[in-house]
Amino acid sequence: MERIAVLTSGGDAPGMNACIRAVVRSALNNKMDIYGVERGYAGLIKGEIVRLGHRSVSDIIHKGGTFLKTARCPDFKDIEVQRLAADALSAYGIDGLVVIGGDGTFRGAKDLSNNFNIKIMGIPGTIDNDLAYTDFTVGFDTAVNTVIGAINNLRDTMHSHDRVSLLEVMGRSCGDIALYAGVAGGAEYVLVPEIEYDLDKIASSIKKSYLRGKTSNMIILAEGAGKRDEIAKYVTEKSGINVKVTNFGYIQRGGSPTMFDRVLAARFGSKAVDLLKNDADSCAIGIKDNKVITVSFEEVAKAKKTFDKELYNVAHVLSL
Ligand code: ADP
Ligand code: F6P
Repeated sequence: MERIAVLTSGGDAPGMNACIRAVVRSALNNKMDIYGVERGYAGLIKGEIVRLGHRSVSDIIHKGGTFLKTARCPDFKDIEVQRLAADALSAYGIDGLVVIGGDGTFRGAKDLSNNFNIKIMGIPGTIDNDLAYTDFTVGFDTAVNTVIGAINNLRDTMHSHDRVSLLEVMGRSCGDIALYAGVAGGAEYVLVPEIEYDLDKIASSIKKSYLRGKTSNMIILAEGAGKRDEIAKYVTEKSGINVKVTNFGYIQRGGSPTMFDRVLAARFGSKAVDLLKNDADSCAIGIKDNKVITVSFEEVAKAKKTFDKELYNVAHVLSL
């Protein structure tokens, strides 16, 4: 394989730039031509393809977002739209592709690879950490650290006013950002979509803790676990203590990637190029027990994410 391309797709994640850099520099080191596709599959079907060199990826390792830009392209489910992508790659003589994104991006990669016989390597890049086959995705660690910063700030003001704080974090239907940030930030309550929770119990425990002299409490809510304003209203009414709502939003998706995300990006990016160079079958790259692994896109689609209940229980024990 002599000519490959790289794209980022779905929601951006810190570390995507570091990952593109790793792909580009590894490809050049292997004497391969390397191209960047702008705006994910949306740009690919329009032939938005540019040649990349060593200097194209200078000074981006520390930057959040993705300099290739990203997009959502709902039409990509249609095989005729996928054909446009295959045609664009073939017009440039590109015979291998690296896609960096989440589960949707991998579904697109599976179709494009199966329907048009294109070699594609998938790198997990999403803050959500919602891919079952890998322990971690690029961007998750940075997002959690950014949320911890928000928790620290909230603690200062909540403690000063004797208030309860409810902080909503992202993650779609996955509670990992809430769980890890909750444990690391010392939150009293972590509400995730994977585990049922009882608002009456939470309200009564907040009330009791006030009577014991603990005057501020932190609730972390994963976005998939319920409606923040309704939960806050209910707990306020039941406990008699005002719950202040913060929706952290897109701030947690930006920022300079952590060491963990940069190293993960480097390992994944160089592995993707190695696999393409050796003409390996299309697959997703991941990390299990600190070893880089490969899994077929079919297996990725079948794998069911398990929630770390042990860590969830630890969060509760430590918050007492
Ligand atoms: P993520 O990759 O972060 O999960 P999305 O779910 O938005 O983000 O998916 C990114 C893109 O992947 C979509 O906009 C679409 O172009 C493509 N995609 C998603 N699902 C499919 C599918 N079932 N078939 C083909 N392409 C898909
Ligand atoms: O997948 C990353 C993510 O930030 C999710 O946590 C969130 O639900 C979603 O993307 C938001 O998507 P959009 O950028 O389209 O608002």
